[in-house]
Amino acid sequence: MEKVINYIEKNQDRFIEELKDYLRIPSISTLKENQPQIKESAEFIANQLKTIGMKKVKAYKTAGNPIVYGEWMGAKGKPTVLIYGHYDVQPVDPLELWKSDPFEPEIRDGKIYARGANDNKGQHFAHVKAVESLFKVNGKPPVNIKFVIEGEEEIGSENLEIFLNEKKDLLKCDAVMVSDTSMHAPKTPTISYGLRGLCYMEVQITGPNRDLHSGSFGGSVANPINELSKLITKLVDENGKVTIPNFYKDVIELSDAEREQYKTIKFSEKAYAKDLGVKELQGEGGYSTLERLSGRPTLDCNGIYGGFTGEGAKTVLPSTATAKISMRLVPNQIPKKIAKEFEKHVKSLVPKSVKVEVRALHGGLPFLVPFDDEVMQAAAEATTKATGKKAIFTREGGSIPIVVEFNKILKAPVVLMGLGLDSDDIHSPNEHFWLENFEYGLKASVYFMEEMSNR
Ligand code: BES
Ligand code: MN
Repeated sequence: MEKVINYIEKNQDRFIEELKDYLRIPSISTLKENQPQIKESAEFIANQLKTIGMKKVKAYKTAGNPIVYGEWMGAKGKPTVLIYGHYDVQPVDPLELWKSDPFEPEIRDGKIYARGANDNKGQHFAHVKAVESLFKVNGKPPVNIKFVIEGEEEIGSENLEIFLNEKKDLLKCDAVMVSDTSMHAPKTPTISYGLRGLCYMEVQITGPNRDLHSGSFGGSVANPINELSKLITKLVDENGKVTIPNFYKDVIELSDAEREQYKTIKFSEKAYAKDLGVKELQGEGGYSTLERLSGRPTLDCNGIYGGFTGEGAKTVLPSTATAKISMRLVPNQIPKKIAKEFEKHVKSLVPKSVKVEVRALHGGLPFLVPFDDEVMQAAAEATTKATGKKAIFTREGGSIPIVVEFNKILKAPVVLMGLGLDSDDIHSPNEHFWLENFEYGLKASVYFMEEMSNR
């Protein structure tokens, strides 16, 4: 392994240059006009897989964006590791807040800045280059390897779910490795044993059939923005509890053992608040911040619009108002069930003076596995070899809906070995990825293959 590690260190600069080429492609999945760049990005990563020595490399067509597959099955009698990642990225707006062009990667202060640098090009590229290193130094990896790099993670992975069902045999494996989560803190190898789920809703309130002069009509009819605001404030109570009936019914309460586990994780609420520029933290009563962040469900308004939002003042009583509301879920909450309860509750809260329409946008199931699983321990061991530090196990607050499907459809354990940091500004302006975490990822990846080969 020493030689592989040497190769990784010697080739860092080239790896980073290649990553930059990947990051220059604006593969934003939610924007129709970026379809050519989606294709380009799929081709780029397919070419990478071919170049490093993967076989049967193909960008599979789907009803949506291509899924890139490649395998190397030359390690007879050894386990097969499937590495998952996504080449699609989030939109970049507000563009004016970026210090450098989101698609012209720039290195500042040991970090590479670009959309997708962390989420997720930088993270899965570390595995691609790890496999290259194993081929180059040892002639072959110590385990069988399959790559699945998709282009729809940021919009729900619908076509990947179909692909998993159709290609169960092709994708057969003993473990799925995913690097698309966060480390708890810098230089702290972290394995996540849970993900939150998601239920994303849209609520539209309509009052009068047209916008009205707020002088001539104000006082006579309900204002949709006022009613929507009242509604939103009723969804979470003073103690931070979501008020939707049955919302907590399927929630698995944190066990004493798990709460003890949370307490062993180093975390300063004061420093956390300071970093976010708030005087005080807030959340569900009876739980610590770390517990609230990943072990408990939440409800948040993500956006609200209606009426006049331009510069200056315009007196208007708007006809409609809309809010985007998401709920992060924990096991065993089911997004579809929660969406129904949400709709019922919302409809019961609005007065007769307005109409309300509720739409479910998308969702994903929460994920939780025991962390004493052998594959998890192999990953923990690998991260320790890569850093000299003991790995910690955490639940992740974000969501990766396809992870549950990997588990269900392929019946393989999934390992979440995050290389990013929550401070990397994913989905925000100035997304970045620490170069030392990229290098850590490369090393942890090769050690993981070695661990798997020995088990
Ligand atoms: N990489 C993230 C998941 C994530 C979020 C990891 C926060 C660590 C911290 C993933 O690409 C993502 O953004 N997922 C979406 C899922 C949604 C679109 C269904 C999310 O969590 O909002
Ligand atoms: Mn993302």
